[in-house]
Amino acid sequence: MLEIINACKSFNIGTVNQKDALINLNLKLKPGDFTTVIGGNGSGKSTTLNIIAGVHAIESGKIILDGQDITKLPEHRRAKFLGRVFQDPMMGTAADMMIEENLAMANHRGEVPLLGWSINQQEREFFAEKLKLLDLGLENRMSSKAGLLSGGQRQALTLLMATLRKPKLLLLDEHTAALDPKTAAKVLELTQEIVNQDQLTTLMITHNMKDAIRIGNRLIMMYNGKIIYDVEGEEKKQLHTSDLLQKFEVASSGEFASDKMLLS
Ligand SMILES: Nc1ncnc2c1ncn2[C@@H]1O[C@H](COP(=O)(O)OP(=O)(O)OP(=O)(O)O)[C@@H](O)[C@H]1O
Ligand SMILES: [Mg+2]
Repeated sequence: MLEIINACKSFNIGTVNQKDALINLNLKLKPGDFTTVIGGNGSGKSTTLNIIAGVHAIESGKIILDGQDITKLPEHRRAKFLGRVFQDPMMGTAADMMIEENLAMANHRGEVPLLGWSINQQEREFFAEKLKLLDLGLENRMSSKAGLLSGGQRQALTLLMATLRKPKLLLLDEHTAALDPKTAAKVLELTQEIVNQDQLTTLMITHNMKDAIRIGNRLIMMYNGKIIYDVEGEEKKQLHTSDLLQKFEVASSGEFASDKMLLS
């Protein structure tokens, strides 16, 4: 479904601040792979998602999505195929637009609105049905502004918007990190339900090692712009956080002892 071949991405090239964020990155995802991504701060996790989404162009290498070479495709053209949810609950929804208008925008992704989003009854019923699945009562508040929702509610809505039209790939960048533990657990549960139901190929960055082990069928660990560990299936299920910590220790020669990963 996704193939990243020898991708390199550096920032501030040719200056003293040059940072080689991704170094010959290779990653191949099968359709339906639900992959969790872990790694210390600055290891290249978000950059990986950003080069897939086209936020950053790569200096060399290739990105193939569902058989199509998208390496040179601009971000807005890739948006049609991708679902994204970020850490910041304020980013994924338009605060000044009603819940149903946000959903209409997602439902017509890639189209140019002529006179705003006119929503017909059939579409409204479809949205209500989808919102009911969230179990947050939002189906009764469809004409409320998204800005009135709590962080968790907004993140749940963003998740729904990102997956309303089945994306070829769902990209989640610490999408529950800014939520309180109870809300985070709820949004994570919803994520699993939606991904499983639609068999979505998914990359989910998390700093929570227990979640990374428990959720999905595959786990990759990044360090210094490279994937240093890639495990799937039964082997992944058998992992313990101590195994992951040990991998980090070995890769970083002990530097992870102070990393925030240890706290989660
Ligand atoms: N737009 C940018 N300009 C300059 N440097 C950047 C930019 N984006 C990322 N970097 C650098 O690239 C490296 C990788 O960053 P990235 O955001 O991918 O890390 P991460 O693994 O997501 O870390 P975190 O867990 O802190 O979110 C870091 O050193 C970062 O400072
Ligand atoms: Mg990041």
